[in-house]
Amino acid sequence: MGVTILAIESSCDDTSAAVVRDACVLSNLIAGQEVHRSYGGVVPELASRAHQVNIVPVVDQALKKAGTDIDEISAVAFTRGPGLLGSLLVGASFAKGFALARKIPLIEVNHLQAHVLVHFIKKKEEEVTVPEFPFLCLLVSGGHTGIMLLKSHLEMETLGGTIDDAAGEAFDKCGKLMGLPYPAGPEIDRLAMQGDKNAFRFSRPSVPGLNFSFSGLKTSFLYFLRDRLKEDPGFIAENKADLCASLQNTIVEILVEKLVTASLETGIREIGIAGGVSANSGLRNRVLEEARERKWNIFIPDSGLTTDNAAMIGITGYYKYLGRKFATQDIAPQARL
Ligand code: KG4
Ligand code: ZN
Repeated sequence: MGVTILAIESSCDDTSAAVVRDACVLSNLIAGQEVHRSYGGVVPELASRAHQVNIVPVVDQALKKAGTDIDEISAVAFTRGPGLLGSLLVGASFAKGFALARKIPLIEVNHLQAHVLVHFIKKKEEEVTVPEFPFLCLLVSGGHTGIMLLKSHLEMETLGGTIDDAAGEAFDKCGKLMGLPYPAGPEIDRLAMQGDKNAFRFSRPSVPGLNFSFSGLKTSFLYFLRDRLKEDPGFIAENKADLCASLQNTIVEILVEKLVTASLETGIREIGIAGGVSANSGLRNRVLEEARERKWNIFIPDSGLTTDNAAMIGITGYYKYLGRKFATQDIAPQARL
């Protein structure tokens, strides 16, 4: 019998549980929280309460779907942070209780590292190529944007990050200005497919090094809409696809430019993208283009593994298990890591 990890993810508004055996995902269940939609963003207190309601049924279903008996679990892994403290507490408390009751090791996982390690998930029936080290990964989600350098499964360095908003936040906040529901990223992606990406131009930041900034773009988008709406109140409705395509193109170009710089500066051509925004079709196509031109070995996650999920916590937990990196019962979740 191999190493079987029960993994829990509860850093934001998705309650997820997965069973990962020897780097293969046996089950990966996600319970989303509709309750935030009408607020246009995640309400931390409501998220925490919904996690409490969801956690036991989600774990139960993950075990059933995997066909795994509770006695087969070698260790339990959970997201320690970064994330919303009230949400993290629910997953951490559950994992601690489970480890204590089952007398098995407890493993704490960094959410950002977990997003990147999805590229090391194997498939039972298929031969999967995984990245070689050093591996460079653009991590783009609703809460984080960075260029991560992995020297091994467990050694990760941040080469650059955002100095204000994350890339997903730029999608979501600009989407809100257009009246799109939260989270707006997937809808902008869909609408952008029917639009002209060169229809409008928005300001691009000039940030030194490998850091990112998106707040200027958001302001430029806001002022642009305000001016056009004065002339034509129907401007957004009449130009929605072009607005989405142009906005998406700007965000993608900002991201890809830095990724290319990071690759040139480090000489690394094992390149990946990860996190919620890595589901974006514009970003996927652009990095594939760069990969062809620059002879990168490119890694793009399967669609179910881009947004928050427990399979990524499970794969990280698996490598930490192999390295005997266990946590003790006094470990506390951390909103910032
Ligand atoms: O990784 P994730 O689930 O949560 C965080 O750790 O933040 O990422 C969620 C973010 C949201 O901002 C959402 O709008 C964005 O990922 N997102 C997308 C797409 N799908 C999800 N953004 C652009 N295009 C998409 N297709
Ligand atoms: Zn995430």
